[in-house]
This record gives sequence, C-alpha cells and structure tokens, in this order.
Amino acid sequence: MTVVDLNQQRIDAWNSDNLPIYEPGLDEVVKACRGKNLFFSTDCEAAIRAAQCIFVSVNTPTKKTGLGKGKAADLTYWESAARNIAAWSTSDKIIVEKSTVPVRTAEAIEKVLLRNCPAPGVHFDILSNPEFLAEGTAIDDLTAPDRVLIGGKIENDRGTAACAALVDVYANWVPRERILTANLWSAELSKLTANAMLAQRISSINAISALCECTGADVSQVSFAIGKDSRIGPKFLNASVGFGGSCFQKDILNLAYICECHGLQEVADYWYSVVGMNDYQKTRFVRRVVSAMFNTIRNKKIAMLGFAFKKDTGDTRETPAIDVAAGMIEDGAKIALYDPQVPEEQVRMDMGEEAMKSITCYKNPTDALQDAHAVTIMTEWDEFKTYDWKEIYQVMHKPAFVFDGRNILDHAHLSEIGFIVYALGKPIDPFLKSAEGA
Ligand code: UDX
Repeated sequence: MTVVDLNQQRIDAWNSDNLPIYEPGLDEVVKACRGKNLFFSTDCEAAIRAAQCIFVSVNTPTKKTGLGKGKAADLTYWESAARNIAAWSTSDKIIVEKSTVPVRTAEAIEKVLLRNCPAPGVHFDILSNPEFLAEGTAIDDLTAPDRVLIGGKIENDRGTAACAALVDVYANWVPRERILTANLWSAELSKLTANAMLAQRISSINAISALCECTGADVSQVSFAIGKDSRIGPKFLNASVGFGGSCFQKDILNLAYICECHGLQEVADYWYSVVGMNDYQKTRFVRRVVSAMFNTIRNKKIAMLGFAFKKDTGDTRETPAIDVAAGMIEDGAKIALYDPQVPEEQVRMDMGEEAMKSITCYKNPTDALQDAHAVTIMTEWDEFKTYDWKEIYQVMHKPAFVFDGRNILDHAHLSEIGFIVYALGKPIDPFLKSAEGA
C-alpha cells in the first residue's frame, strides 16, 4: 500500500514520529507497517503506474462559489486525480471511490479517465467503496466494521470481477457476510443516506431536548426508553449542542441539492430541516447562557472546555463550538478556551483574527477556569469528568454556572457543590427559571 499526496509537508509528517492527525491506535498501526507494506510518498506518478488498484480519497468539500454554491460537492480534486490517473496509467486499474461523492460521480469519472488516457487498450473499472468509519474510532471501525459496501457494474462480467477483487482484499480480515455488493449508484447513495439518517437522529433528539426543558422531562430518560425499542435502537440518541464534523452537514446539503436538481423540492426541504434544527440547537444554547447570566455576558470570562467536534480527535471541522463561541463573543464575552487536542493556531483559523481578540487559549484547564463566571462544555472529553469540581467552584466567580452541552458531568453533584447547572434537555434549575422569568 502506497499512500500518495501532492503535499510534501504532509507526507513528511506521515513518515515522521508526529503523524499529521490524531487518532487512537493509528500510531501503532503505522509504526508496525511503515517501510514494510505501507509507504508514504509524493511520487504520485510512480505509485499510479505500479498500482493495480487505486483508492481515491481526496477531499470533496461543499462548493463555495458558482452553481450549487453552499450545497453541491466540489469535485475539483476528484477530477484532477482522475486526470492524473488517466495520464500516467499504462496498465488496467481498478479505481475505487473512497471519497464521499454525489450519486453518479462514477459515470463522470469514467468519462474523464477514458477520454484522457493516451496508452492504448488500458481499461478502468470503477468501484464505489464508501468509507463509514467515524473519527476517534477509525481503527476499530476499520478492523471490525459493521459492513463493507462495494458498488460496481455488477451487471457485466468485468464489473463483477473487479468487485470480487476488492471483496477479496477485505475478506483478509472482514467476515464475508459483512461485505455487501451493490450496483454503483446504490453504493454512492447509501453513503449520503447513512450520514443523513445519522444526523437526522441527532436533530430529532435535539428537537425533543428543547421540549423536555419546557415540560420537565429528562431527555436522557426519553433516549433510554425509546432506545429499548429494537426498531429504534440505543445508539446515536445523545442530545448535544449540535452535531459537527466534516461529513454530516456537507453530505446532507449535497443530498438535498441532488434532490433539488431532480425537482424533488419537498424531499430536499425535509433534509435541509435537519441542518436547520442543528443550527437552532446551537443558537438556543447561546441564548440559554446569556439569559441565565442575567441577560449579559459582556466582559465575563466564560471558560469553554472542548473545541473539537467530538472527543478523541483534534478535528474542529464544523464543530458546534465555533458557532457557540461566535454567538457568545457577539454578546461581549471573553472566552477562555481549553481543549486537550486542538492547538491555538487551529482555533485562530476557525474563528478568525477579529474573534481571537475575545478568545484566550490555555494549555491547561486550571488557568482557563480561574476567575471564570461560567463553564461551557463543548466536547465530551473524558478528562472533564475527572476534574475536581469542588476546587473549580472555589476559584470561580459566584454564582458559578455550568452549561453542559454534552451532558457528561454529574449534574446533581455539581448542584450540591453550589453550581447553577444547565444541562441540555434536563429539568431546568429553579435559579435559571427565575433568571429567565419563566
Ligand atoms: C460520521 C459517521 O458516523 C461516519 O459513519 C462517516 O463515515 C463519517 O461521518 P464522524 O463525523 O467522524 O463520523 O463522527 P460521529 O461519531 O458520527 O459524530 C458526528 C457528530 O455528531 C459529532 O459532533 C458528535 O458529537 C455528534 N453526535 C453523535 C451527537 O451529538 N449525538 C450522538 O448521539 C452522536
């Protein structure tokens, strides 16, 4: 396996002791295989020439300009990878779509490959093999996946043979009954649908969390009770300040855009509403913080614990913390930020110079919490649960507030210490009710 990238710095990092991404278990895998059957290189041409099978895993971000701006997938990187593959290939290749792509991308890519390959008689078989792994659990998801999905032109012999070749690769460690084959378009659409349905579950429980707060119901109890229904199942029902990550929003917008292109406006609107609910949840959280703290957070130090979009990753793409921080800054807050994995430069890139005037990044939680008026939990890092909250209470301004956007802390214990606690979808603290005049 040779991993190639045009970016020398990135490849150097993959060849060093400091891998360019943090992922539990990844260091061990790379160290065990690097130089043996795993290589990292910028020599794309040599790797393409030598390969029998090429996994294309380039970015497919949302288009920023032009037709479909803000919704459609930008396939620039995919197309340029395909043009390089065509230019440099001198033998038959199986081309595997790993990137999440709009339905029928394979058709467009095939055209690019066929029209641009100068070598005579070279044949390309295109497969769709969407990646379902989640960040933070990537290695486990890879070694023990729920399923592997391979889409190809199973209606003809060549396509069937290409599918079988990839099935054999996975069958080295995945039980065959977990390796599914489908037609190309089903495989491509399955990836978008899986992410849209997962995000929709979160938006659904987040919608209910708002209702819980009004009625005195507890969203964790509701999640637990509905999760016992085997048709619903217990996973992905944690109410949160909002879903983030590089996939959910991008894929839903892309799916909705495809629906629009096919004249299915009602279907598109249905999926847009999942993103709308996610935005509402973030706004609602900021509103809670402001209203609880006597309708003003101007010049108040708010400790923000966590910035990554989920625990066990340093990834901040589409993290709800960005919108929440921006919302609180708009109200004049001074944010004291601590995240165990996200470096200050990343926060700067996400928030911009202007916002950074109101954000201080700390390398340890103690300094972030000293003299804070409130704590907001943005990421469910395990270490936050182990802090000595009694001591933290001592060093904070009073009344000391905790706004738990992930419902990970022991709220009863915090209330006992003296904190005013807001937890998503939980019965509202009487202090907050009176502060909001409810
Ligand atoms: C997701 C899909 O899970 C994965 O299959 C796909 O390949 C890529 O996109 P990822 O974005 O890495 O993976 O993380 P995921 O665990 O799905 O979490 C996404 C977001 O939803 C996070 O912000 C997370 O905190 C949030 N979330 C998740 C909730 O708010 N509540 C939940 O119950 C679960």
